[in-house]
This record gives sequence, C-alpha cells and structure tokens, in this order.
Amino acid sequence: MSHADMPDILGARPPWSDVEGVPSRGVSSRNEQAAKAKKAFVEIYGGPEDGVRVFFAPGRVNLIGDHTDYNGGFVLPAAISLGIYAAVRYTASPEEAERVFRARSLDAKGEVCLRLADIEFVEDGKDSLRMAGPRSGRGEVRAAPVGRATTASAGSAGWTAYPEGVARFLMDEGLPVPGCDILYLSDLPIGAGLSSSAALELVTAHALLRGTELDRVWLAKLCRRVENEFVGVKCGIMDQFAVAMGKRGYAILLDCETLAWKYVPLNTGEYSFVIMDSRKERSLAASAYNERRAECATALSLIAKHREISNLCQSSFEDVRRYVDDSVLRRRARHVVTENFRVKMAAELLEQGRVLEFGSLMVESHKSLRDDYEVTGPELDALVEAALEANGCIGARMTGAGFGGCALALVRSDLLEGFKEQVTGSYRERTGIRSVFYALA
Ligand code: GLA
Repeated sequence: MSHADMPDILGARPPWSDVEGVPSRGVSSRNEQAAKAKKAFVEIYGGPEDGVRVFFAPGRVNLIGDHTDYNGGFVLPAAISLGIYAAVRYTASPEEAERVFRARSLDAKGEVCLRLADIEFVEDGKDSLRMAGPRSGRGEVRAAPVGRATTASAGSAGWTAYPEGVARFLMDEGLPVPGCDILYLSDLPIGAGLSSSAALELVTAHALLRGTELDRVWLAKLCRRVENEFVGVKCGIMDQFAVAMGKRGYAILLDCETLAWKYVPLNTGEYSFVIMDSRKERSLAASAYNERRAECATALSLIAKHREISNLCQSSFEDVRRYVDDSVLRRRARHVVTENFRVKMAAELLEQGRVLEFGSLMVESHKSLRDDYEVTGPELDALVEAALEANGCIGARMTGAGFGGCALALVRSDLLEGFKEQVTGSYRERTGIRSVFYALA
C-alpha cells in the first residue's frame, strides 16, 4: 500500500504516527481495513477510488476509574488498536449552497442524508450564530432530510444521530462543513463498552474537517456535547477525551473537573492487559446510568449542605459517612470517593511499574462497582471471577459503564494463551456464553 493510501489517524498523533510503515500487527491490519473501506465505498457510492480518503479513530478501554468522570473525579483510560474507519469523498465545498452530507455503515442499517443548507443560522443576539429551523420535541434542530428520509431522529438515537449531530454542532461553531459521502467500517465491537459512539463522533469530526488539526480537547468537548444534547446520553467526558488524545503505549490520567491530564506509560513489564468481552448486551445501561447519576447528585446535595463542594469527588470518606444517611446513596457515594482515590494511586503505581499492586487495585475497583455501585451484573462478575482464578492473572475488573460489555485483566504475557482458554471454559460453564478477547494495542 502506498503512503497516500494510509488512513488519517485520529487519537494518536505520536501514538499511531507509525502508520508510515513500522512493521507491527496493528499497523498492517489498519492499512488492510483502510483498503477494505475504500473498496466498499466505491461499490456503494460508485466512482473511482482516487480521491477517497480514509480516517480512523480508536476505541478506548478504561484501566480504572469508572463512574468518576461525571462526578468530577479522575479516570485512567487508554486508546486501543481497534476502532472505526471512515472512507470519505468530498462532493461539494463548504461554500456551495446545495451540499449534502451522506453516510452509511458496513456494520449497521440506516443512512445519514442531510442537506446542509437546510440548517439555517440566525443571530442569537450574542456573539455566535445559532442553528434555527424546525425543532424536534427534544429541543434539537432538524433539517429536512433529502432522498430517502432515513436520517435517524436524535430521540430514537440510531447510529446516524451521532454523525448528524457532529455535522450540526461543527456548523453551529461556524466551521466549514463540506458536502461529502462517508462509509464507516468498524472493527470495534459496537455497544460493548469500548466507546464505539465516541469513536464514531470523532472519526466523523475528523473527516468533516478534512483532517485539519484543531485543538483535540476542544473537539472532544464538542463531541461530548453532541452525545449529551443531541443524542440524549448524559455521559461524562472520558470516552471522547480518550479517543481524541489516546497515544499508543500510554494511558491518560485525566482530571475530569479541570481537564488537566498527562500520559502515563503502560509500564506493565512482563504482564499485558487483555480485554475480555462478556458478550452480554448492555441492555439496562442507559436507564441505570442516568439513575446512578441522579443518586450521585442527591448524595452531593446532602454533603453540600455542610461542606463547600461542587462535585462528589471533592468530598471525603468522613463526609460521606456523616452526611449521607440513606444506605443506598451512601454506598454510591462511597464507590465514587474510593474509586477516585484508587485511580490516583493506580496511576502512580503504573508509572513506577508496580504491577502487582496495580492488579490489586483493579480487584478492589471491581468489588466496589459490584457491591457499592451495583453496575456489574452476573456476567461481568462471572468473567472477572473466571479471570482471577486463571493462571497468571494478577487483576481484573469490569470497564466502562457496566451492565454487560467488557472487562479487563492483567495477565502474565507468556501465559496469555492458556489464560484465554481457561477463562473461555469457565465463563461458558457459568453463563453459557462464549467470551471474546482483544489485545490493547
Ligand atoms: C460510559 C460513559 C463515560 C463514563 C463511563 C463509566 O462509558 O460514556 O462517560 O461515565 O461510562 O466510567
């Protein structure tokens, strides 16, 4: 594959800048996927392959620190080598009135078909231009779709709501969005807790901006707003931040309150992180996620009557014990406060290569998510138990929102194959489900 054919990589300036041909499994498979995306693009949209560009954004796995981001705490996510590819052909410049944004996916039904000129802008009386036009019930603006009217409504939140939201929000910021056709291809399992939504948002932004480098943190914030305000998922900033800023060989220690962050090298020595997919659909995730958020808000309001704090992570164990008298709320708050503490310790341990202690914190984190926060469920518990019983494993925990999706284990690299076999067997025995494993990089 020639240099020009290589995908534009997001989520990895230094990280995956080695696309230029350092031989590694990740890179060659990325190039193969990019070639596949181009070929499929031409089959669907016609025309020559020439001029079709391919962009990529990775998924992420959170090493430790779940349900802390929306409580103003720390997280420690890392980008992974799997992700979403967007093959794109530009069909009209941002200045042309009659320009259309079309997008399809090789992995899911549905189509984005958005006439960009129909997104009108009016002066909102402040400095910026705001979108105007017909509004859906949720307060978002919707332009009339062209062609087959299959553009997902943001309310029903099919996958098409994500690219559509990104286009609208970029335009709302006054950025020039060209007419284009996009075909997505994903080697990231969708809805498995590895941030396929954030990857879809960021790869779309990257493609619509024609690869122009903007401030990545700004972009991550914009994509999070898309998810919060357009798609209707009240997520924190972790996923978009990790996808935008991820770097191969490093995790990101992020303070979700201030957005101060730093890279932490994955000093795992003779151990490797392995992602284990429970293949249990995260069916309850959205409603339970919002419920947990509400519980945290209530716990915060109880503590804030006595202490000057603006988020739950600013409270101490003592505050939680003294001021949160409801036992459920106290357990929720206890998870948040202890988890936040664990993340900070874990980042230091990882930096120093103290893997055994890091592994113990993973175990503590899982217990806290299971018993205090109650977001694991039987499958993730069975998977983590199976991992901890297998040879060579020094730590395991669920990762992401929970209620299904993925868990993460830290395993001696030379025992990895046996580990996978053992876990597959005992997880299947316990749940009847066949687990799947992914490497981090
Ligand atoms: C989901 C959300 C994140 C975060 C995690 C839990 O992945 O998108 O913002 O809250 O759950 O840590």
